[in-house]
Amino acid sequence: MKTITTMENKAILLNSRPVGKPTLSDFKFSTEAVPEITEGEILLKTKFVSVDPYLRGRMSDAESYVQPFELQKVISSGVIAEVVASKLASYKVGDFVSGLLEWKTYQTSKGEHLLKIDETLAPLSAYMGVLGMTGLTAYFGLTEIGAPKKGETIVVSGAAGAVGSIVGQIGKIIGCRVVGIAGSDEKVELLKSKFGFDAGINYNTTKDMTQAIATACPDGVDVYFDNVGGKISDSVHANINRFGRVIVCGAISSYNETSAQTGPRVEHFLIKKSVLMQGFIVGNYAEKFPKGMAQLSQWLKEGKLTYAETIVDGFDAIPQAFIHLFDGKNNGKMIVRV
Ligand SMILES: NC(=O)c1ccc[n+]([C@@H]2O[C@H](COP(=O)([O-])OP(=O)(O)OC[C@H]3O[C@@H](n4cnc5c(N)ncnc54)[C@H](OP(=O)(O)O)[C@@H]3O)[C@@H](O)[C@H]2O)c1
Repeated sequence: MKTITTMENKAILLNSRPVGKPTLSDFKFSTEAVPEITEGEILLKTKFVSVDPYLRGRMSDAESYVQPFELQKVISSGVIAEVVASKLASYKVGDFVSGLLEWKTYQTSKGEHLLKIDETLAPLSAYMGVLGMTGLTAYFGLTEIGAPKKGETIVVSGAAGAVGSIVGQIGKIIGCRVVGIAGSDEKVELLKSKFGFDAGINYNTTKDMTQAIATACPDGVDVYFDNVGGKISDSVHANINRFGRVIVCGAISSYNETSAQTGPRVEHFLIKKSVLMQGFIVGNYAEKFPKGMAQLSQWLKEGKLTYAETIVDGFDAIPQAFIHLFDGKNNGKMIVRV
């Protein structure tokens, strides 16, 4: 990867489609002039960039719910930016916005599809996590599909990550037993000490995951919030209760696989236990986002909800921060501060 350091406006392009786990050479830095704005435009300076597992899918040339990134074109993701020049009446210099924007240090916008965010209500970075896409994913996936009831048991995989850590806490607010699965002892400790999970399982050191889940969930599993898929999920499925709900949010364990994965079939437990299994994308609930944001903000204000962030500094660090998601280097939301 070539990094250019002497320019006014940096951009990161998709250099090649990753095969397996992405590498730094899949990304390319370029320099552009800082653009001039015309009437009806604003100039945005990037403050925070969200790196997310789903971007891996957009780097492949496969059909999905969003278009693949084009080769040699600038990558985009959730960005928080400051308005530094404005020829658009509805935005003034100093406003902060969040939106799906390009991996550039500066860019212009017509103000469409941007959300104005208020730094006095929450730190800007929170709008990428607990008050942003991942918080809303946790809230709507759990409450709309999982619909957990007080006293039920919820298992969350990817539990120490951006989505998982919020799912577990909402489960506790509802009054459930919550068990998290994560990739290190440090993360399991964080689940219990910071996020209030009842128990945690380190999938990297546990030999018999099915037994470990059975032990951690003496009354079985009523709701499984799945962020990872694969073998971890097979073990949770084996412990699911009658009328259980499986929320298929993500499958990060397979995002870098180069061939289709197989495993135990799900029909048997779905039929025998009358289990509901449903995938979703957070955008399905776009009309309800204001309601979700209001609830998450309220819980934050009341101290019922907390969050973790792994903040990496520097625009040049974006590709590595993204790759580190697949190494489990983050606690909570992985964010790059520019
Ligand atoms: N459906 C939707 O609308 C939606 C929206 C947002 C996110 N998602 C999905 O939700 C999941 C979590 O996203 P996030 O943004 O909150 O990411 P995240 O959990 O903050 O970060 C990814 C985490 O995945 C774990 N991981 C990486 N490789 C793994 C593997 N092979 N097996 C098991 N775990 C692995 C790592 O934690 P460990 O150290 O514990 O392994 C890593 O920290 C992802 O699958 C994502 O695609 C879906």
